[in-house]
Amino acid sequence: MSTYLLFLVIFASAVSVLRATRDIPGRVALDNFPLIDGHNDLAYNLYNKLHNQIYNFSFHKDLSQDSLFGSDSCKSCNTDLVRIKKGKLGAQFWSAFVDCGPHQDAIVSKSFEQVDVIKRLIDKYPQDMEFVTTADGIEDAFLRKRLASLIGLEGGHSIDNKLALLRQFYQLGARYMTLTQSCSLPWADASPVDSQPEANKVDLTNFGKKIVLEMNRLGMMVDLSHVSHNVMVQAIDTSRAPVIFSHSSAYSVFPHHRNVKDDVILKIKQNGGIIMVNFYSAFLGERHVTIKDVARHINHIVDVAGVDYVGIGSDFDGVDSFPKGLEDVSKYPDLFDLLREKNQTRWTIENLEKLAGRNLYRVFKKVEEVRDTLLHERPDESLIPDEDLARAAGSVKKYSKLLTFITVVVMYTLRV
Ligand SMILES: *[C@@H]1O[C@H](CO)[C@@H](O)[C@H](O)[C@H]1NC(C)=O
Ligand SMILES: *[C@@H]1O[C@H](CO)[C@@H](O)[C@H](O)[C@H]1NC(C)=O
Ligand SMILES: [Zn+2]
Repeated sequence: MSTYLLFLVIFASAVSVLRATRDIPGRVALDNFPLIDGHNDLAYNLYNKLHNQIYNFSFHKDLSQDSLFGSDSCKSCNTDLVRIKKGKLGAQFWSAFVDCGPHQDAIVSKSFEQVDVIKRLIDKYPQDMEFVTTADGIEDAFLRKRLASLIGLEGGHSIDNKLALLRQFYQLGARYMTLTQSCSLPWADASPVDSQPEANKVDLTNFGKKIVLEMNRLGMMVDLSHVSHNVMVQAIDTSRAPVIFSHSSAYSVFPHHRNVKDDVILKIKQNGGIIMVNFYSAFLGERHVTIKDVARHINHIVDVAGVDYVGIGSDFDGVDSFPKGLEDVSKYPDLFDLLREKNQTRWTIENLEKLAGRNLYRVFKKVEEVRDTLLHERPDESLIPDEDLARAAGSVKKYSKLLTFITVVVMYTLRV
């Protein structure tokens, strides 16, 4: 009996020593440095569900069972302050996004409304959230235990081909702009062209390059999520500062045009930028997608480029299906635990801090430094060339001619 007890004591202490030295859970990283998420479309849900009337919106409560924002009624609603705290989220780029496309009206004014609702939401919860526009501001808010809240403008459609509007969104606090969302623009193609061999590509036009350069001058991060492969390459070659992918995963792990191919991952390494991995199931794998698939995407980027060029861009509010085990903002710590559990050599606490936020912080800081070297440059007054607009109108016209032709044929066939 006593031998048995002795054995038990020795075994238990050996286990606890092992645990103390090796099995520090990955989530500890999130206490050391803010977890910075590159993309969340909560504001888009506020527009669609509440017309941005937020005084009755209880963001400080657990909304998982809410009649409007609960998971039963809204698959793309996965965010509230209770679950954010549980998920140890330190900073969020809130997305100012409005639908793109030829049938959308008032895109610019709606985009301003989205910036407004993000700011008003932050103001409504001063104990929990803090509006941030600088890299150091993220750390300051974290020390005050508030969620650093930044604005990312999703889609160049919001600036209506005007550098003046780009500057005004920067003035309002937007610290990245995604060059395109899913619609191609007169000056840049969106990623769907990569799965349409017959698409009329413009790549990144000269005017598009001017937009990138103006963003460098302003100190606004260039976000390449959603753009075509050619635009990724050309924007990286144009930019004088590191660029980001605010919510994109790895093409080699799952081939979808929204994901980033290895040649671009290597260019990101040279550029000093970052790829913030998206949690949307449809970009991660074929079926039965789990938290392990997210880990695979992250590990692939590390295999190709190293641990300094990867981050997190969940899209938690925004898309409608998430991996098993990573269903809402309360689950981030499980991902950090899992990565470390599977490979403690790679995922030291220090490297997990890089994934969480240090990498994005480094990029943001560098973008600010580049801005400071460009103070002598004047704002670019260029207007979009008529030929860019004509070409864009031409491809729409060609498309509508084709549509008219099909309609006529169908009507003739049906004799209607
Ligand atoms: C907010 O809630 C109050 C009290 O429940 C209600 O009277 C009011 O109509 C609501 N306002 C909106 C905009 O839903
Ligand atoms: C663990 O990480 C190290 C360092 O990145 C790597 O060399 C090794 O292949 C990884 N092991 C597994 C099983 O993935
Ligand atoms: Zn998006």
